Amino acid sequence: MEPPVEPYRVKSVEPIKLLSREERLTRLRKAWWNVFRLRSEDVFIDLLTDSGTGAMSSRQWAALMLGDESYAGSSSYYKFEEAVRKFTGMDFVLPTHQGRAAERILYTTLVELSQSKVVPANSHFDTGRAVLLNIGAQPIDMPVKHALDPEDEHPFKGNIDLDRLEATLKRGNVAFVLLVLTNNAVGGHPVHPENVREAARLSREHGVPLVLDICRIAENSYLVKRRDPRYAGRSVFDIVRETLSHADHAIMSAKKDGLSNIGGFIATSDSEVYEHLAARVVLEEGFITYGGLAGRDLEAIAEGLTEALDENYLYHRISQVEYLADLLEGNGVPVVKPPGGHAVYVDASRLLPHIPREQFPADSLAAHLYIESGVRAVGLGYLAFEDKEKPELLRLAIPRRTYTSSHLRWVAEGLARIAAKPYKVVGLRLVWEPKVKGVRHFLAKLAPAG
Ligand code: F0G
Repeated sequence: MEPPVEPYRVKSVEPIKLLSREERLTRLRKAWWNVFRLRSEDVFIDLLTDSGTGAMSSRQWAALMLGDESYAGSSSYYKFEEAVRKFTGMDFVLPTHQGRAAERILYTTLVELSQSKVVPANSHFDTGRAVLLNIGAQPIDMPVKHALDPEDEHPFKGNIDLDRLEATLKRGNVAFVLLVLTNNAVGGHPVHPENVREAARLSREHGVPLVLDICRIAENSYLVKRRDPRYAGRSVFDIVRETLSHADHAIMSAKKDGLSNIGGFIATSDSEVYEHLAARVVLEEGFITYGGLAGRDLEAIAEGLTEALDENYLYHRISQVEYLADLLEGNGVPVVKPPGGHAVYVDASRLLPHIPREQFPADSLAAHLYIESGVRAVGLGYLAFEDKEKPELLRLAIPRRTYTSSHLRWVAEGLARIAAKPYKVVGLRLVWEPKVKGVRHFLAKLAPAG
């Protein structure tokens, strides 16, 4: 595949530096072999996350100057509210400082109102799962079987298993059903709008609300357009709205498809639930017209939500992910297929069969990739999810509008060198983990095993 050509030019640059191999090893030892504990200035190419790490456009930087910093009734809020209403088709909008605050406030409210505990999802991602575990709820993953096989080329591996969902709803005690678009925990795969529609129908039959986590819904919708010929003639905006029309509530981390460095929101069409949420936002985030954000952040998100639907931008974004996946495959690195919307996921179990799950193959690979080439990526496996049913993946998340094709080539070359001698990678052991549930991969202290 040819390297995709960036549909933007550079206006402002941020230098990055490659430390020597010895220096990288020293930094990693100081960071307890956990790449979350590294200083960003010691990282050459940072693919830890695509969240809040993208480059803003010149229009967004200009919008910052229009920020109205009033405590209540800020004009920036009304601009934001209009942009979110247009994006989601939902009437009631509450800003939050980022996605996990939206998750905490909505999920806690729905669990309390329903007095039920079970939350089925296509796959919970780490922060939402941690929120639910810490309020005594029970997150359950039910991805379609295709998602469990990294080689399976099914185009919509983000879908929820509708049979399992129906059986779970029949058993009762379900607080709400969650669909995460795209499905970040298992490969960034898209969810098809028909799967959303069917999940909504089943939920409605059992009087249970359907929540969409829409932090990557622009990418999800673009992949629907690309992969289902029936959607080829539709605009991405149209597909976003069709998908959302099935949901009762939505949460979004605007740090992803909001193309912003901070922020999030809850959107709902339910005025009663809104009342509960609004009171909680005041208590936990800030007044309902800023929700923990500065007025200028609201301006940047309002603009970002529009730019995220630009199909030239989306074409390049998805092509970057495909390009990196292609380079890796060509170099014998096993990747999850087909590539998803925001990241390439390396199958760490297949690359490192000599490392047992208890020694965290994905996180060991992350540590060795940093030593090898100064690249930071994140392990999503047993350390993060404490579930051996889940795959063991190294996620290379691509920040939006930030890196070029030559950066991606550098990343692929580093991993290719590791894949040529995988036996050199050693496993890790836990030295310390926090007591709070669901967050150990962020904070763990690790050391080489054996
Ligand atoms: N939902 C999903 C699907 C996410 O991927 C994230 C964050 C959140 C909610 C929480 O949003 O970070 O704004 O509080 N994911 C990041 C990641 C951190 O690296 O994938 P947040």
